Amino acid sequence: MPSHSKPCVRTPLPGPRARQLLERDANVVSPSYTRAYPLVAARGKDVWIEDVDGNVFLDFAAGIAVCATGHCHPEVVGVICEQAETLIHLSGTDFYYAPQIELAEKLVAIAPGNFPKKVFFTNSGAEAVEAAIKLSRFATHRPHLIAFYGGFHGRTMGALTLTASKPVQHRGFLPLLPEVSHVTFPTEDCEPTWKQLAELFHRKIDPREVAAIVVEPIQGEGGYLVPPPEFLRGLKDICEKHAILLVADEIQSGMGRTGRMFAIEHFGVQPDILCVAKGIASGLPLGAIIARAELMSWPPGAHASTFGGNPVACRAALATIRLLESSLIANAARMGEILLQGMDDLAKKYPFLGHVRGKGLMAAMDVFTDETRSKLSPARRQEILKLCFEGGLLLLGCGDAGIRFCPPLTVGPDHVSIALDLLGQACENTEGEIT
Ligand SMILES: Cc1ncc(COP(=O)(O)O)c(C=O)c1O
Repeated sequence: MPSHSKPCVRTPLPGPRARQLLERDANVVSPSYTRAYPLVAARGKDVWIEDVDGNVFLDFAAGIAVCATGHCHPEVVGVICEQAETLIHLSGTDFYYAPQIELAEKLVAIAPGNFPKKVFFTNSGAEAVEAAIKLSRFATHRPHLIAFYGGFHGRTMGALTLTASKPVQHRGFLPLLPEVSHVTFPTEDCEPTWKQLAELFHRKIDPREVAAIVVEPIQGEGGYLVPPPEFLRGLKDICEKHAILLVADEIQSGMGRTGRMFAIEHFGVQPDILCVAKGIASGLPLGAIIARAELMSWPPGAHASTFGGNPVACRAALATIRLLESSLIANAARMGEILLQGMDDLAKKYPFLGHVRGKGLMAAMDVFTDETRSKLSPARRQEILKLCFEGGLLLLGCGDAGIRFCPPLTVGPDHVSIALDLLGQACENTEGEIT
């Protein structure tokens, strides 16, 4: 793909080739996917995506916060090709190979906490959360789990039970896992959360029967919500008081996205189990939990995965982490500041935008019906996302009416400026007063 410096949309969207593929997709692909607009991608390079009709888009979605190193980074592609010619699969469940061991060593070293740790590999975020649920119950011999409203942890039955994001994710799939409770995720004041936990422990659940509290240090799908600075410390204290495990779901917030390797590092807290996926392997399917070594007391056969931690994905992850450490985490922190400043400026210019929040390149703002900012407008948010797409910018929504920014961590100031300009143009063109 040739290199680009700006978006170029030269056909109506979807273009003729895209339209044909959309028709075929509608016949054979599950309608449960959540496509906000009809992008049919052909190829990607760094922060650019070219569609099947030759239109070029600036990508501020990164495959849902996955392509941390940009699309098809040459170093990542290089190790994928090399490993694919050497050994594609063997199953780390039954045998051993160096890339899996090397990656486990690396994850143990970079995960917060100066204590021995061990790693279990998966193919996805949901599977990492499943592994965390199973390990928490196994290691503590306790049944209960506590999670947060607005949290998103995946679609498999256990992860789905922890998820409390949108009813459509649960409807038709009940019953879910028993013994799971939810409390409020704080954004300004932790007191309501502490009160709900106290009430839960007073009225319903003996804390000695709680295996784990599962939390996204910065909520992803729920709206890129950053909790008050004291929240995670307070949660950890409650966990320590009752010997409850703290599980940090960093599937979206981890791997450099927030300007630190893991978002929980902003809060100075060390989880007992850390879940990662998404950005870890620049787009190859890989997830993992990194747990205190003493928790991994489960015997052979207790938990395993045929594909989890396959050699190609592990090599891609090692290359990804090298790039994150050498420059991309620092870049995410720097570009995040520029981005948040630009978002603030946009919210000043378009008063129906507001509630700018985030850390690093995990940032969002809400869309309201009007300048009073009293009512969120999911419809206007959808319209803005579509107008951005038509202008050559890929963005995703989050929360009830949030616009999420999760570009590759390779973005530079020019990309941020183009993205904000295109969003500004979209805002100019929205119809007012959409509810
Ligand atoms: C915080 C969080 N946990 C878990 C998941 C589930 O990951 P996957 O879609 O890879 O199963 C997601 C996906 O968006 C996520 O954002």
